[in-house]
Amino acid sequence: MTKIVAMAGKGGVGKTTIGAFLIRYFIEEMHNGPVLAVDLDPNSNLNELLGVNIKTTIGEARELMKKDVPQGITKDIWLEYKINEAIVESRGFDLLVMGRSEGPGCYCAVNSLAKNIIDTLKTNYPYVVVDNEAGMEHINRLVTQDIDELFVISDATPRGIETAGRIMSLVKELRLNIKRTHTIINRFKGKEEDTLRHIAADNRLTISGLVREDEIILKADQHRETIFSIPKTSSALSDAYTIFRTVIE
Ligand SMILES: Nc1ncnc2c1ncn2[C@@H]1O[C@H](COP(=O)(O)OP(=O)(O)OP(=O)(O)O)[C@@H](O)[C@H]1O
Ligand SMILES: [Mg+2]
Repeated sequence: MTKIVAMAGKGGVGKTTIGAFLIRYFIEEMHNGPVLAVDLDPNSNLNELLGVNIKTTIGEARELMKKDVPQGITKDIWLEYKINEAIVESRGFDLLVMGRSEGPGCYCAVNSLAKNIIDTLKTNYPYVVVDNEAGMEHINRLVTQDIDELFVISDATPRGIETAGRIMSLVKELRLNIKRTHTIINRFKGKEEDTLRHIAADNRLTISGLVREDEIILKADQHRETIFSIPKTSSALSDAYTIFRTVIE
């Protein structure tokens, strides 16, 4: 059975970083076969953390489909070809990027296309890790997905935790098809853990774990290094691995 894991949370809290840690974790610790990484964020940068270049995206394929289908083949077959072209293969994982759909309006068409693609592709992978766009309004992007584990990431501030609480309530309200949810406090500065846990409890959240603020991560980001270059001595990486080992069934 494929396990599907998704990341959610407000802007800049570390969704992509922790999602990339998880991809590395599945590759390094589980040895079950390749991970499918799916980037649903139109302003995506997951590929940078994974150290791969994107050739094309689902959004681009869909736009091209409107005008560029060669004669003699059906749109479906052409789209399938383009989607296969959009999958970047690398060591231990493949990456698919949703990208942007041109023009105004909602992402519904691209979202449902993403859903169909994930449903089709997932049979080939033991793990699918979905990185999502920031904020409440994009939670609906996960609506149609069947998710085993949803990680809601928060920063280590009262306001951040309140937002994470609202995201979690929304997830419950929308009755998304999510088996388990976990809350991670990221960029924890080693102070006032009890206070943070109390604030979380007031917002009906149970903290699954805290990931420390780590200079190594910041430096790696500044130097555009990939997640695979982060040493095992990184406190953030080791905190994240401990949480994954504990909560992922
Ligand atoms: N534990 C950590 N210690 C230090 N820096 C961190 C940590 N986690 C994330 N960061 C840094 O915080 C910044 C934001 O992280 P990231 O891009 O993962 O957040 P995001 O939630 O995906 O953002 P967005 O909402 O823009 O997609 C990056 O510069 C990243 O390197
Ligand atoms: Mg991100």
